[in-house]
This record gives sequence, C-alpha cells and structure tokens, in this order.
Amino acid sequence: MEQLIYEGKAKDVYQTSDNEVLRIVYKNQATALNGKRMEEISGKGSLNCQISNIIFAYLAENGIKTHFIKNVSKDEQLVKKTNIIPIEFVLRNVISGSFARKFNQIEGTKLLSPVLEYYYKSDALDDPVINESQIFALKFATELEIIEIKKQVLLINQLLVQLFKKINIDLIDFKLEFGRYHGAIILADEFSPDNARLWDTTTHDSLDKDIFRKEQGSIIPAYEEVLNRLKTEKGLT
Ligand code: C5P
Repeated sequence: MEQLIYEGKAKDVYQTSDNEVLRIVYKNQATALNGKRMEEISGKGSLNCQISNIIFAYLAENGIKTHFIKNVSKDEQLVKKTNIIPIEFVLRNVISGSFARKFNQIEGTKLLSPVLEYYYKSDALDDPVINESQIFALKFATELEIIEIKKQVLLINQLLVQLFKKINIDLIDFKLEFGRYHGAIILADEFSPDNARLWDTTTHDSLDKDIFRKEQGSIIPAYEEVLNRLKTEKGLT
C-alpha cells in the first residue's frame, strides 16, 4: 500500500514501493490568497499534469536534469525522490502581480533584465521573501547550490521563452522548485499555468491562474488552450 507522504494544495505525493520513486497526483483543487480561497475545478489536475509533462520533457531534451520519470495516467506521474530545497525561485521577465504592487509599477512592462526572487516555502508564514545571506545562514541551501540553481533558472527561462514564443505566448513570470538528488541539483515540482503567468502575445489575455485569482471566469478553456498549443508545437496528438 502506497503511503501518502505529502498533501499539498494542488498535488498529493505518495511513496511507491521503490524507495527512490514518488507518485504525484495532480488535484482539481485551486487556491488563492495562500489557501484562504479554495475551489474544486474539474479537469484542472489533468491539464496541469499534461502541461508539466510536456515542459519537463522539453527541458530534459535541452540538457536540464529534472525529477520527471514518466506519466502513469492523465493526472499522475512518477518522479525521482529528491530532498526539496525549501525555497521558491520566482523568475520575472515582465512586471506583474506582487512585483507591480510592491514597486507601484505598470503591469505588462518588460524588465530590463530577468529578476530572480526567493521565497521561503512555508504556508504558515505565507511564503515570506528571503535573501541569499538568510538562505545560507539558516542552512536552507549552500552558496554553491544557489549558484547552480541561479544558472539553471536563467537557462530554463531562455528555453521556455523560446518555446512559448513559438506558440504565441509571452512568458511573464514563473515559480520553480529544486531538489537534491545523488549530489546533484535537479528541477522538481511542476511547471503549469498554476505557477506561471502566460499571456497570449496578440491579445495579452492571461492563460493562467490569474483568471481564478481575479475571478474572471473558468480557467479550464485557457489551460486547454495552453496544452493544445504545446501539443501542436511538439507534434503530439
Ligand atoms: O504573485 P507573484 O507576482 O509574486 O507571483 C509570481 C509568479 O510566481 C507567478 O507566476 C505565480 O503564479 C508564481 N507563484 C507560485 N506560487 C507561489 C507564489 C507565486 O507559483 N506561492
């Protein structure tokens, strides 16, 4: 019997019979305001899982090491078990969301260079901002690990900007997580419209969770649109 080892807002994680392999189940639950608003959205889990699979496969093809092993159903995947670094790495190409509010800046303005921010993963503390010296002093990650992760995040950003450009989507910002695996740092967690801002290049419409955050209707058509464009680009049916 598989043991539930982590119950998240958007995913549950089970230990499989192989000690080094986890099974992730993507859930239909959507949350905003750090879990204070919660809704069940039929189909979301499967869409996010399929989108994340395509993105992780594309990154792996381009030399990025990830935890992804294979998908076992539309909303479940097998991944390598990592020791997760408790930091959320947020990369911004264009001003939006909390960055626009914090600095009173106009949403949609392209940043001169990509901005990388760190947040400490803690639901109880609402994921507070953390800086590098705090990360090192609190032993959340070493200097060498952060150097490696920064390199990877910037490379992933370049690869994803290129991919999304091909499907007429601007990659505004996104959040990634990394884990330790046999002495290496590998990409973990997911990449989906739940943790990225994806704007249609022509219309500037959001194709991401901002639709839910701003209560602008169902996210499903937008998530389906992202998945369909990715599938077409990758020649998947
Ligand atoms: O809200 P904010 O502008 O800081 O979000 C920046 C990016 O990080 C967005 O793409 C958002 O979806 C993602 N994010 C996330 N999980 C969080 C906070 C932000 O995926 N806890």
